[in-house]
Amino acid sequence: MTDKSKQDRVVIFDTTLRDGEQSPGATMTHDEKLEIAEMLDEMGVDIIEAGFPIASEGDFAAVSDIAKQAKQSVICGLARANFKDIDRCWEAVKHARRPRIHTFIGTSPLHRAIPNLDMDQMAERIHDTVTHARNLCDNVQWSPMDATRTEHDYLCRVVEIAIKAGATTINIPDTVGYTAPRESAALIRMLIEKVPGADEIIFATHCHNDLGMATANALAAVEAGARQIECTINGLGERAGNTALEEVVMALKVRNDIMPYRTGIDTTKIMNISRRVAAVSGFPVQFNKAIVGKNAFAHESGIHQDGMLKNAETFEIMRPEDIGLAATNLVMGKHSGRAALRSKLKDLGYDLADNQLNDVFVRFKALADRKKEVYDDDLVALMTDQASEAAGDHMQVKFLRVICGTEAPQSADLILTIDGKDHQVTAQGDGPVDAAFNAVKKLFPHDARLALYQVHAVTEGTDAQATVSVRLEEDGKIVTGQSSDTDTVVASARAYVSALNNLVVRRAKTKPEDELKSAG
Ligand code: KIV
Ligand code: ZN
Repeated sequence: MTDKSKQDRVVIFDTTLRDGEQSPGATMTHDEKLEIAEMLDEMGVDIIEAGFPIASEGDFAAVSDIAKQAKQSVICGLARANFKDIDRCWEAVKHARRPRIHTFIGTSPLHRAIPNLDMDQMAERIHDTVTHARNLCDNVQWSPMDATRTEHDYLCRVVEIAIKAGATTINIPDTVGYTAPRESAALIRMLIEKVPGADEIIFATHCHNDLGMATANALAAVEAGARQIECTINGLGERAGNTALEEVVMALKVRNDIMPYRTGIDTTKIMNISRRVAAVSGFPVQFNKAIVGKNAFAHESGIHQDGMLKNAETFEIMRPEDIGLAATNLVMGKHSGRAALRSKLKDLGYDLADNQLNDVFVRFKALADRKKEVYDDDLVALMTDQASEAAGDHMQVKFLRVICGTEAPQSADLILTIDGKDHQVTAQGDGPVDAAFNAVKKLFPHDARLALYQVHAVTEGTDAQATVSVRLEEDGKIVTGQSSDTDTVVASARAYVSALNNLVVRRAKTKPEDELKSAG
């Protein structure tokens, strides 16, 4: 690598599976995390932050399995500033061809007060923990959480300690989305100028979006010398989210004239991963979101449409193909055959074996019978429909009829197949969804709390499919279920039953562990 290309290259650190997954309600299953990690690896993400291994058995398993499957990307796990976290993190990431430990501690006055450490005690803790991490792994990232609200002198002092202790990347998080572009750049510049050893390591920028400036702050940091951008697909993340991967990558590509930095991302894979993350996280992408929103390439006004027909560049600064949006959006329908479906699904990132295609084809035909035009998003919803993969499930919705309208109460007749046997019930409720859920609860009594019920229309029109996400909480355990159907109440009941099926699996998995614990 020449010196120049080293300088121009910005590494992309994706934290969809850690910081993104932390956003309330965005919990993904183990298999979904593995699938997203594979997509990130294939699109050229340099570093994947796969999770927080000490947080739970599930996080640990996800990080270690992602580490085992990764082909190119560095696999990173998060750890707080203590030996136990760091050891657990190493146990998970060590399987990767290229592992990284990321350890952090809050350094601002507000955050120092929580573990009740004075400045010297915290400095010592940083030295000890980074040294410990570096003894395990030669690739160590350290983050002073809430860096943008940390006193500059103290920030320089602790960054220097972390570098001397062996950190190879220093990440400067704007944890609460408080900074602004000029300040973000000045902070990185100040650290590069003042901290001894700064030229030996890579500075990273990690911006939250509370004031809507995350992407601008990240790019400003790059212009000041940061060479790692931390981001998530669709900007997923706590509160207002993080810097969106697709935004920084496309901004660097489209405005390379004024921001001459390169990433290794294959941008044509952006749209598929965006759709997939939206589907599995249950966080739909807002219509007017930059790059990946439904309207990002839609032109409504007459003047714009006219201009577009004459020359697309009049109103488009990038081509839909650049992000993997097919130039012609081939709409599928009930006359579409197996080959067309296979090719369409391949374009959407699903390479199916013959038997898988047969199953999807049956479901596709059933959908096309009810819905005249089947769009890309309908197919993604079909592929994501957890409730339809019900073969081994404890329960399935066999029949549902709901009476609803202006006269309350609404009622639901339901047949649930539980362990192969049909059970029928009628229940009432405050609205059709409530009635359907009450019916499920009558047949499968439980104390799980409904923590989230979310509906979004997959496409436009009154015949659009609704994707319903349900999140349940029982004894601190969280499970989710998702289903799509042109009938919102059917999708709701199926999503609820899918979450309960996951709960049954979760209960069975955690039982032996609890027994082990009580056995001492
Ligand atoms: O926002 C933040 O400060 C973080 C750290 C753990 C890096 O996510
Ligand atoms: Zn963060």
